[in-house]
Amino acid sequence: MKSTIGFVVFVLVVLGLLYSISGEKYPRVPDDAAHKGITDYALCMGCHGPGKQFPMKADHPPKYDCFECHKTKRIRDMMR
Ligand code: HEC
Ligand code: HEC
Repeated sequence: MKSTIGFVVFVLVVLGLLYSISGEKYPRVPDDAAHKGITDYALCMGCHGPGKQFPMKADHPPKYDCFECHKTKRIRDMMR
């Protein structure tokens, strides 16, 4: 009985880890005209910088490598 509970806990931990590395916790870059084909992060900041069209929240994580966290549909397709 004890080992059954241990196994269930183990499975839940593994599932949690898989979820945490799946990348789905970050909002995806929309697959629209504004975002298609952009690879230069300076362009991102033109719309997502402070005071711009769609600013990032002030508590946004460090803003260097956007695609490290925000996968585009395009990049996802390339990885298939
Ligand atoms: C021409 C202006 C423009 C540029 C350039 C731009 N964005 Fe956006 N972005 C928007 C707007 C407006 C929205 C919100 C409306 C929408 O869903 O399209 C948005 C939405 C997003 C979202 C989704 C936010 C959410 O809460 O779902 C992410 C992530 C994002 N952009 C990342 C980026 C990254 C990374 C780049 C550079 C590769 C970039 N954007 C370049 C205008 C822009
Ligand atoms: C370290 C991971 C990481 C990096 C790097 C990153 N982001 Fe984000 N971004 C997030 C997370 C997490 C959220 C969701 C924040 C929330 O919902 O509070 C987010 C949300 C956003 C949003 C939606 C508005 C908001 O602030 O919630 C936009 C737009 C965005 N990011 C754009 C960018 C751009 C542009 C870059 C590159 C300059 C970038 N991100 C780099 C993790 C990251």
